[in-house]
Amino acid sequence: MTVSRGEFNSRVGFILAAAGSAVGLGNIWKFPFEVGKGGGAAFVLMYLAFCFLLCYPVMVSEIAIGRKTRRNPVGAFKALGFRRWAIVGYMGLMAGVLILSFYNVVAGWAFGYFLEMVQGNFEIGSQFDGFAADWMKVGLYGFFFMAITAYIVSNGISNGIERAAKFLMPTLFLLIIALMIYAMTLPNAIEGLKFYLIPDFSALTPTVLYAALGQAFFSLSLGMGALITYGSYVSRDQNIVTAAAFITLTDVGIAFLAGFMLFPFVFSQGLPPDGGAGLIFVTLPGVFETLGATLGIVIGSAFFLLLSFAALTSTVSLLEVPVSYLVDEHGIKRSRAVWLIALLIFLIGVPSLLSNGASSIFTNFVTLMGSDSPVDFMTLVGYIANDTMLPVGGFLISVFVAYVWKKHNLNEELATGDEDLRGSWLQTYIDIAISYICPVILGVITVVTVLDRFFGIHLFS
Ligand code: TRP
Repeated sequence: MTVSRGEFNSRVGFILAAAGSAVGLGNIWKFPFEVGKGGGAAFVLMYLAFCFLLCYPVMVSEIAIGRKTRRNPVGAFKALGFRRWAIVGYMGLMAGVLILSFYNVVAGWAFGYFLEMVQGNFEIGSQFDGFAADWMKVGLYGFFFMAITAYIVSNGISNGIERAAKFLMPTLFLLIIALMIYAMTLPNAIEGLKFYLIPDFSALTPTVLYAALGQAFFSLSLGMGALITYGSYVSRDQNIVTAAAFITLTDVGIAFLAGFMLFPFVFSQGLPPDGGAGLIFVTLPGVFETLGATLGIVIGSAFFLLLSFAALTSTVSLLEVPVSYLVDEHGIKRSRAVWLIALLIFLIGVPSLLSNGASSIFTNFVTLMGSDSPVDFMTLVGYIANDTMLPVGGFLISVFVAYVWKKHNLNEELATGDEDLRGSWLQTYIDIAISYICPVILGVITVVTVLDRFFGIHLFS
């Protein structure tokens, strides 16, 4: 069974693939614009706290469940003998499908921007609204993107995912560092840094907490079983706790650097930081232009190409989850499952594609209770799948591990491949976090912020 499902070829293979899943549009597109909307540094602090204190223990749990059972998220709960908990897996599948449906649209933007940069069209920044509203063009890019994702996933674990992750991530990392250094030299950069780094705690509303928690889960690919699935391909001699630490640090590190790069750019161009989902797309082309035509084209194209690749290692992980479910639980051939689901998700993404100006119905989709302006369809799907379902998934996973599967089983699995863990402070922290901190804090924040966001009920304010 183990052999026929495939396994990562090497230790680094798993770590890079999981880090590749985590690092994506979430770090470079979503994180900066959420920081901008959330008022800056206070959001950043909450995000960091959530990632390390709450998400890390959940990540460790997901990987352990996956490696223990060697199953997809639905099959994993069943294999442990708790059939009713499979509902957490089903919810994860749904969240993943919804997330991929809009993620793919933004990946289409990134790829489209690569093509614009190649042609030296630096004006595209100021034309973002028109670009995003051109649904035929963006739809075509999105379709292309989904097809490549499907192609990689259909080639199976070690050939597809592992190879793609290996050489692209370090390159992206270096490019962000270089741009960050350049950003520091620009006028007004310091204003951007202040916004990014000096917290104003009066900005910490339930709305901001809601977004920061959702961002932490989204960025780490957590709460929907993507890491249960990746964990199912990990060998028993791998050290889960260390691997998860590396994945978390890499992901948070890249998001943090992306913000460091972007806010000086935003402020030096006199743009508003709360510009929303278009923030990097509006800001960056003008920055590349200041590098001069030739260098601007080279750096600009490289940036959006690498961003597209970062998105690809994430879409691959999102598609892998429902595929592994159909293969394991329903015996469907891998290649067939891949193309079927990819097409379905692309179609589910059409309203999101239309919700950025192309169709007024989807662009002004609903006005939530307690709010006075309408949100677009894509944003709404983000609220539901990303900001709500992922933290709820994380909550349920922590409750499951602590009180149903039981901690000693988790500890047993974690110690496999890491004998030194037994009795260490890290194990103590994971124990406490999974039994008390995660269930309580995730539970409370989710209830409070969901009431606030969707129903306009303000328990604290
Ligand atoms: N973490 C990815 C990003 O930041 C997106 C992603 C990939 C994801 N797989 C996921 C989000 C699973 C939630 C669940 O771009």
